[in-house]
Formats: sequence, structure tokens, C-alpha cells
Amino acid sequence: MRDINLDIAGGELVALLGPSGCGKSTLLRIISGFIRQTEGRVLFDDSVVDALSPAERGVGIVFQNYALFPHMSVGENVAYGLQAHKWPRERIGKRVAEMLDLVHMGEFASRKPRELSGGQQQRVALARCLAIDPKVLLLDEPFGALDKNLRLDMQIEVKRLQRQSGITTILVTHDQEEALSMADRIAVMSRGHIEQVSTPTGIYDTPQTLFVNEFVGTTNVLRGEFIEGPAVRLEHGPILPVGPDKAFQQGRAVVVSIRPEQLRFRPAPSDGAFAAVITTVLPLGAQVVYDVALTGGPSLKIAEPRDAEGGLRPVGATVYLAPASPAACNVFPAS
Ligand SMILES: Nc1ncnc2c1ncn2[C@@H]1O[C@H](COP(=O)(O)OP(=O)(O)OP(=O)(O)O)[C@@H](O)[C@H]1O
Ligand SMILES: [Mg+2]
Repeated sequence: MRDINLDIAGGELVALLGPSGCGKSTLLRIISGFIRQTEGRVLFDDSVVDALSPAERGVGIVFQNYALFPHMSVGENVAYGLQAHKWPRERIGKRVAEMLDLVHMGEFASRKPRELSGGQQQRVALARCLAIDPKVLLLDEPFGALDKNLRLDMQIEVKRLQRQSGITTILVTHDQEEALSMADRIAVMSRGHIEQVSTPTGIYDTPQTLFVNEFVGTTNVLRGEFIEGPAVRLEHGPILPVGPDKAFQQGRAVVVSIRPEQLRFRPAPSDGAFAAVITTVLPLGAQVVYDVALTGGPSLKIAEPRDAEGGLRPVGATVYLAPASPAACNVFPAS
């Protein structure tokens, strides 16, 4: 890991988002105290916690691989942390039942972890972690093994609990929708460092690097050179005006990134519209995504809301398209 500088406010939910192997779990283990970093400091409430064990740091952690105690029943697993935290015995039973209900595992209290599915183990791990009312909640892909409906239930439940009790939470995920929907802020990671920390809409609308732009959401990337305007002369010819906030040296090799939903069909050839031929039609429910081949240029994806009356545009049709606005074009230096 290098150049990690992340300041998380009390009660905030921050997602660490990035591809497999980028260091999300490692960073979480450093924060929790399961790995000791070789450089730098971890602070909770302005005090350095580097010398403290995970228990002393008051963190609750759900590991990527669940890590339940195999010889204990589900109920005993959830009770374990409460006993360690010296909860009075008469309150433990009630708390365990409450937590298991929360994750829809009430009827499995006497099972052993090996008698559960992966998603069930994951839910028990979540219940065990939440039971102790941790000051900081660290979740490493806590919903990874759940099907879509259960995953959504658990996401809503965790977010509700987190809001209600104001637990500062770090959620590791490689699922961008999960990060966009749950987090107050997202830290996008790549190769052991943080590329950008912003709100979900900030990450999506104003990515600071091409990596962030391509990793979160879908985008079209076109090569060209930066010219006065400001604009970009695309490799296949046309000139594309870009937002006035874009500033590069004249002639600098750049890439322009435009999201599919930021492209618009135009009724006729017009200034600045690209001619293209539709090659693939993907009706995705509420939206239709068209793959189009630009005349003399690369292929682009363009999305539009599906019009139930109007039907789909046919494969082979010639169309004209342009960005919704110059501001919809993000420009990055070409590597
Ligand atoms: N104990 C270790 N010793 C050496 N290298 C390790 C160790 N643990 C992990 N790594 C390496 O560090 C990098 C980051 O691993 P990490 O587990 O943090 O990734 P991740 O972002 O959580 O990925 P995933 O989404 O697959 O869980 C990987 O390249 C991994 O091989
Ligand atoms: Mg991991």
C-alpha cells in the first residue's frame, strides 16, 4: 500500500471499491489491527491506535471468508463476543435471538457453521459482528455470497442499523452498485493506492482519472488531441467540443470519455454529430443499449430510455449521435 490518506468522519459509511487484488482487505486489516503497517499511522478519534489489538480498538469486523468458530453453534458464535465483552448472562440470550432474527437466521441457532450454506455463514458473521455494538464496523464483502434479493434486504438492514446507531463503517466491495447505493463516500482503489475519494455522484459524474471513470459505470473512450475551443480532434476526424473547465496543452494526446447515457441520437446529420450504423441492440428492460460503429472510427455504446410504443431501432440503421453537452465529455491525458 502507498500514499493512503483517508479521513473518515464519525458516523460515516465509506466504501473501499476496487478490482480484485488492489488491497482493500489489506487496508481493512490494517485499520482493524490484524496487520501492522510498516509505515504511517492509524488514528481513531485523533489518538494513534497502532499499539492496540483489534479488541482494544473496539472494531467489529466481518471477514471476507466469514471466519466463524467451527466447533460452536450459530447461537454460540453470536454470543461469543458478548461474553468476551462481559455482557450479563440474562441479556445475552435475548440479544443473540434479536441479532439472528435480524439476519433471518433465527431458526438455525443450534446448527454448526459447517451445516450452513456460504450465504448463511455470512449472515451469522454479520450478526456476530453487530451484536457487540462496535464503535467502528469493518465489513469485507459482507454480502458477497447472497442472492440478489437477500443481498438487497441485508444492504437495507445494515444501512438502517448504521444510520440508527451512527456506527462509523467501512465497507469493502468490488460491486460498484453496492458502493454507489450504500456509501456516503467512496474510495476507489487501484494497485495499493487510493485513486479518488468522493461522494457516489462525484465519483460517477466527475471521475478524476480514467481508471475511476472506466471502473465505475460504463463508458466510451475515444482517442484524440487537445485543441483550442476547448475541443478534442478525434483520431477518426471529427472535432468534439468539451467543457470549458478542461485545460491541456495544445496538441496533447488525450482520451475523451463519454458515458452511454450521455450520448443522444440526433434526427439528421448536423454539426458535431457522428454518423454511425447500429450493430447490436440490447433491450435491458427500462433502457436500451445500442452498440454502434462510427463511420471510419471505433464502436460506441449509447443508451436511451426504452419507449414501449416506439419499438427498437433496427440493426443496420444509419444514425447520428452526439454528446448531450460538452460537459458530458471527460478528458484525461493519454497514457
Ligand atoms: N499476507 C500477504 N503477504 C503478501 N502479499 C499479500 C498478503 N495478503 C495479500 N497479499 C497481496 O496483496 C494484494 C492485495 O490483497 P488484498 O487481499 O488486500 O486484495 P483485495 O483488494 O481485498 O482483493 P479481493 O477483491 O480479491 O478480495 C494482492 O496482490 C495479494 O496477493
Ligand atoms: Mg479482499
